Amino acid sequence: MKKLRVAVQKSGRLNEDSLKLLKDAGISIDNGKEQLKAASANFPLEVFYLRNGDIPQYLRDGVVDVAIIGENVLIEKGEDIITAEKLGFSKCRVSLAVPKSVKYNGLQDFEGKKIATSYPNTVQNYLAKNGISADLHIINGSVEIAPNIGLADAICDIVSSGSTLFKNNLKEVEVMLQSEAVLAVSPLISSERKEILSKLQFRIQSVLRARK
Ligand code: PRP
Ligand code: MG
Repeated sequence: MKKLRVAVQKSGRLNEDSLKLLKDAGISIDNGKEQLKAASANFPLEVFYLRNGDIPQYLRDGVVDVAIIGENVLIEKGEDIITAEKLGFSKCRVSLAVPKSVKYNGLQDFEGKKIATSYPNTVQNYLAKNGISADLHIINGSVEIAPNIGLADAICDIVSSGSTLFKNNLKEVEVMLQSEAVLAVSPLISSERKEILSKLQFRIQSVLRARK
């Protein structure tokens, strides 16, 4: 029998809650994430542990059928990918932040400024919509350190508790978008696997209802 191929974040904030959701849905996953691929013993599903940023492309290519992923990643890299379900965890926002010492007057302050970010498309679109052009510096992690080391005037990154901004002497000045984990579906999913997906969704929906 065919199995539904589910992408889950390999490590990071989504990983634990994603596996917990599957567990609460009565789906047991056999081995640890060292395997990168693990099957369920009681549901026709296998989990692929992948890097967040790679997941939209895997969905697009039909290498995986569905993914538990942050909306923020889809907005940045997978606007063509369909969301089947909002999952209610890993809530965060994608925001612009500047050093605490800087007096902030409004979005126009970003004109011509250097912004370090892992979300270049999101920032680019947001600023362009507001008629502002800035110089983006793309980095993949520890973005909040950039202003302190003279790499950028500002940053754009995920904010959850706000503690990373606080520790780096930054303040959040614009919220560009709100995000949470979602169940995303490949445009190439087969009809056979779509049937498994509806069973999975049915289970997920009852878990989410019970959590409310
Ligand atoms: C993420 C994100 C922010 C931080 C936000 O980084 O990039 O830096 O969490 O969370 P907070 O508001 O609760 O502090 P992460 O720790 O995953 O590391 P990375 O950026 O180096 O990948
Ligand atoms: Mg970070």
